[in-house]
Amino acid sequence: MGHIQVCGLSKQYMERRTAPRTVNCSPNVEQGTYLEVLNDINLHFEDGELVCLLGPSGCGKTTLVRIIAGFEQPTSGSVTIDGKQVKGPSSNHIFVFQHNGLLPWMTVWDNVRLGLRHMSDKEQMGDRIREYLDIVNLTGFEHHYPHQLSGGMQRRAELARALVVNPDVLLMDEPFAGLDFLTRLKMREEIINMHEYFRKTILFITHDIEEALVMADRMVVFSDRPAQVRMNLKLSCSHPRDFTKESALEDLRRSVYMELGVHYAL
Ligand SMILES: Nc1ncnc2c1ncn2[C@@H]1O[C@H](COP(=O)(O)OP(=O)(O)OP(=O)(O)O)[C@@H](O)[C@H]1O
Ligand SMILES: [Mg+2]
Repeated sequence: MGHIQVCGLSKQYMERRTAPRTVNCSPNVEQGTYLEVLNDINLHFEDGELVCLLGPSGCGKTTLVRIIAGFEQPTSGSVTIDGKQVKGPSSNHIFVFQHNGLLPWMTVWDNVRLGLRHMSDKEQMGDRIREYLDIVNLTGFEHHYPHQLSGGMQRRAELARALVVNPDVLLMDEPFAGLDFLTRLKMREEIINMHEYFRKTILFITHDIEEALVMADRMVVFSDRPAQVRMNLKLSCSHPRDFTKESALEDLRRSVYMELGVHYAL
């Protein structure tokens, strides 16, 4: 479960301005212009697919993901997940993974436990938390607070917190932001392994083209705002992917850079 259909999705934000006080105009009249962020987006994410979303800063990636999560309403068009139209947030199906998502006053154990509050069997709940902390290699750090963990460990704790609720869809908006290069490479590997094991539908926003090419089953590249789909590429090479051995990857990398208007990195 976790099949997402985005149909004719458009989004405009009202940019409010307060009119200046004039003789002919009553005070504080709100005037507005519309900011068009998404324009007729049609996308289809298959169950269990890991899709990387790329595009220029400010083009509307976060807005799209927030609409899929039900946090924002589209101006027109619709999103359905497993055939049901998204009308608001649903914690059962979707987990929005965000960095700095851990509650600083709670231990790793309690943070992971948050998603399992509905479980009445405490023993079963404990086993489940232990299992997921083990999957993300945090056994032994159950009683640490977030500030006692490294950046990479914090992301792994966040990942455990996301996975333990067994969502159909994971939405990850630049989850590796702020991590150093090596930790980021390791986290990529962890997401790939986790995805191969759990097969969740993952929408993963990144600005890193190499990261998308290494991780994704498919990558979608958006234009400048208002975002339109410029590329929708299936990546079928097996993992681990090696740019030096797969010329197709190298060609793709070049074409994505070109699409994003970057020529010097080629
Ligand atoms: N709640 C809001 N009200 C008004 N404008 C908004 C709102 N949220 C986002 N915007 C505007 O919509 C545009 C797209 O924002 P969004 O955050 O979706 O971009 P993005 O592609 O995620 O950018 P980045 O890569 O920098 O994170 C921006 O111009 C932003 O100012
Ligand atoms: Mg964003």
